[in-house]
Amino acid sequence: MTRGLRRRLTSYGDQDFSLFLRKAFIKAMGYSDDALDRPIVGIANTYSDYNPCHGNVPQLIEAAKRGVMLAGGMPMVFPTMSIHESFAAPTSMFLRNLMAMETEEMVRAQPMDSVILIGGCDKTIPAQVMAAASSEVPAIILPTGPMDTGNHRGERLGACTDCRRLWAQFRADTIDEAEIGEINGRLASSVGTCTVMGTASTMAALVEAMGLALPMSGSAPATSSERFRLAEETGRAAVAMTETSLTTAEVLTPQALRNGLVTLQALGGSTNAVVHLAAIYGRLGKKLDMAEFDRIGQQVPVLVDLKPSGSGYMGEFHAAGGVPRLLSELTDLLDLSAPRAFGGILGDAVNHLPSRHEEQIIRPRDNPISASGAIAVLSGNLAPRGAVIKHSAADPELQVHEGRAVVFNSVQDMTERLEDPTIAADDVLVLRNAGPKGAPGMPEAGYIPIPRHLARQGVKDMVRLSDARMSGTAFGTVVLHITPESADGGPLAAVRTGDRIRLDVPRRRLDLLVDAAELDARMAALPPPRVSPPRGYAQLYDRHVTQADDGLDFDFLMAAQDNG
Ligand code: FES
Ligand code: MG
Repeated sequence: MTRGLRRRLTSYGDQDFSLFLRKAFIKAMGYSDDALDRPIVGIANTYSDYNPCHGNVPQLIEAAKRGVMLAGGMPMVFPTMSIHESFAAPTSMFLRNLMAMETEEMVRAQPMDSVILIGGCDKTIPAQVMAAASSEVPAIILPTGPMDTGNHRGERLGACTDCRRLWAQFRADTIDEAEIGEINGRLASSVGTCTVMGTASTMAALVEAMGLALPMSGSAPATSSERFRLAEETGRAAVAMTETSLTTAEVLTPQALRNGLVTLQALGGSTNAVVHLAAIYGRLGKKLDMAEFDRIGQQVPVLVDLKPSGSGYMGEFHAAGGVPRLLSELTDLLDLSAPRAFGGILGDAVNHLPSRHEEQIIRPRDNPISASGAIAVLSGNLAPRGAVIKHSAADPELQVHEGRAVVFNSVQDMTERLEDPTIAADDVLVLRNAGPKGAPGMPEAGYIPIPRHLARQGVKDMVRLSDARMSGTAFGTVVLHITPESADGGPLAAVRTGDRIRLDVPRRRLDLLVDAAELDARMAALPPPRVSPPRGYAQLYDRHVTQADDGLDFDFLMAAQDNG
């Protein structure tokens, strides 16, 4: 196999001349022939002043480079885009595929024998795994790790479940202007990703469980010395990977993907992970079987007691043994023979664990947080291709509920009319045109706030439904990812305020109580759903983005389907 700088020579018809040119240019950086003759490990640098979740990337790169060099390799750092949740308008999801494309093509374009992808904030690890799954270069993920918790008047704070909870208290007038300002400075108390079981923590744990990242690297705190030792070890592993040359597609066997689904349910993980996993399946020519995912959810208990479903933060999860400890409780439900990118099998991480010292944060099997998994898949006449609900983070009283629909036509409409005093606590709030194409980018708008007049009366949860996503750090009886979306032919477009809607989580149903003929007539009378953007990435996105059940990937990036 062609290695090192000889990989992927741009051909001018004379390969030797191409190599000569390549060496001449790179020597301008001060590299010796000895350095350039070694296996090359690319390191994707996703540092950005706009991305505090990646604030430790420079130190992680330094540690990873050290590991590469200690193992006899040559590290080459290169930039790729970086996406932070709060600094990626219109939504970070809108940009995820762009990052996946850029990462895939830069890994392919430049000579490297393996690659370390440093990711963290919500969409970055999914983009990198999608890129890696489509690339022939062996890849290992190095998560940036969770931030530290803060403290406010004796109470621990962690981004960003507490952001929402405390903002809701501010809306309900139980926290004043001065105090909310003080809290604002303490919610994100260090660099690193959100410290609850949100999307970033979920995806970091899933790459560990699917063999794409070193044991414990899904949870070690962003600021800990352990995180930097893991970075060094990742560097060493990446050099070894230049020999074994296992591609990400070879690591992500059907067993490994299924292990990801089991782990997601047991974590009480983010609903966003369902979309990202569907995209990863698509990159491998497979379709995520939502019915199978729901069946897994019925067998797998939630074992991790972290916010937003539970009470702890990522630091405690790590101290309790992290992903290897969690996997050790699920050995009968996992396939521990699944391969890992850096060698060995998944079972290697669970075979030599120290004895348990705690049973609260990662529960033993006989004392779960809940007997069944975190996420349920619903279907019905309102969601012909499915919808999801994180029922572990929802009010048990609302799991079976029938109520009057109150329909908002867009996120903007919702913002303007949410304070309508006629909205009652048992109404069902419906948001549409917030899906992959409708918004666009399927914003995390599914967590419709409780109207202020009801919040003041102490109402904490209501049934809410939409074709949007929800932040993994949010909670409530919130039905999400209704597919197809309203802006792309979904029946959600035909719901009217005053209709009755019935949610039945135990029976996995979501139905509009309007008969089929009436629903068909309403659908036929609808105006065209949206205008296509005139140019640029927005147009590419609008033309090619798929629905939530295909992970919102672009159709042309998916592999040809092979469900054998
Ligand atoms: Fe980056 Fe939460 S905002 S992980
Ligand atoms: Mg998030």
